Amino acid sequence: MSTLLIKNAKLRYEEGLKDILIENGKFKEIAKAISEKPGTEVIDAAGSLVTPPIVDPHVHLDAVLVSGLLTRKNETGTLLEAIDIWSDWKVGLTKKMLKENARRVIDWYIANGVLRVRTHADCTDPTLLTVESLLEFKEDVKDLIDIQVVAFPQNGILTDPQNIDLLKKSIEMGVDVIGGAPHIEYTREDGVKDVEMVYDLAEKHDKLIDIHIDETGDPHSRFVEVMAKESINRNMGERSTASHTTAMHNYNNDYAYKLIGNIAKAKLNMITNPFDNAVLQNRMDGYPRKRGLTRVDEMLARGINVSIGHDSIMDPWYSMGKGSMVQAAFLLLHMGQLNGATQVQQLFDMITHSSAKTMNLDDYGIKEGNTADMVIFDAKTEDDIIRLQSECTHVIRKGKVICRTTPAKRQLEYDTGKHVDFKI
Ligand code: FE2
Repeated sequence: MSTLLIKNAKLRYEEGLKDILIENGKFKEIAKAISEKPGTEVIDAAGSLVTPPIVDPHVHLDAVLVSGLLTRKNETGTLLEAIDIWSDWKVGLTKKMLKENARRVIDWYIANGVLRVRTHADCTDPTLLTVESLLEFKEDVKDLIDIQVVAFPQNGILTDPQNIDLLKKSIEMGVDVIGGAPHIEYTREDGVKDVEMVYDLAEKHDKLIDIHIDETGDPHSRFVEVMAKESINRNMGERSTASHTTAMHNYNNDYAYKLIGNIAKAKLNMITNPFDNAVLQNRMDGYPRKRGLTRVDEMLARGINVSIGHDSIMDPWYSMGKGSMVQAAFLLLHMGQLNGATQVQQLFDMITHSSAKTMNLDDYGIKEGNTADMVIFDAKTEDDIIRLQSECTHVIRKGKVICRTTPAKRQLEYDTGKHVDFKI
């Protein structure tokens, strides 16, 4: 029987420090003081914040790390040029390359405390190589990280007659989630059909929904209203997610107010992707230039489940990124003006519990009986983790430490003796 005891853990929303006993990969006991038995590995958290694993509910693992390899770079920095570059690039993509890149990123995620990921897989390629590769990859790494795969029609469902069959084939292959891309379709009418088709398929096959939707600065892109309607009529909101919705930033306030009310009524999950949407949207503005993000503060204020996605990691859409959701939260704090005291706490929810809710995860959280997945941060508060983008000193998966990080040590040379191991 393997046992691990974490001493002096600061848990979110709890007074004082707790000990956490793990047996056979499960949380056995969480109490004020638990005495260690012989053979138990003990880690002293020394008052550091201990949290459930960080979650990324929106990434494209099929495209990660290709930005440095591209012969044609994204010069305009727009979404449409990125899609164009990707369409050329994916012709030469191999399963080996895709899995190697995804694996490298999974190692980065683990170092950053991320143990739950929802990835999109482009299913508009006739070979369905990305779907097949990511479904295999999910199994390859299941001891390290939990992955959901979305069938994502990158080029739309109705722009090519074969796309609907490819989407259906992906469902047969075993994807967890069905996606759409209504703002990519040729007409408003086709965009509405795109959303309706996704709901029909999800209802028929009992799948979750996650649609790339209104990912544009165009205020006339109004497809999330269709998702709200379908979710209300079919009672599928909690199993459905609207990703991006950046056009909402540019809607008039009367329309946005009504829409946000319907999203709340539908119980739709919403994902914002601060890295990509900070650089891809509202590119046509000139100056003054609006932000490219959806209305996060207004949705949070009305009780909607909003979470944060990384979206891209070094691909044609976004050439930066290191798999850190804390960094994404830091960016959203600034871009979305979410620096109110309660909002900073909500930002941390948005990379943990809110994202777990979006992914419909039940075995999640530091609770007796749950799988013992958790992270010890090199900080004592959520504010400090976001401010400093703190390291995860220990990442624990099924009761075993799978990554240890020693934070950088600094010494002030001008005041040696007083400030040894100086910390910011
Ligand atoms: Fe995306």
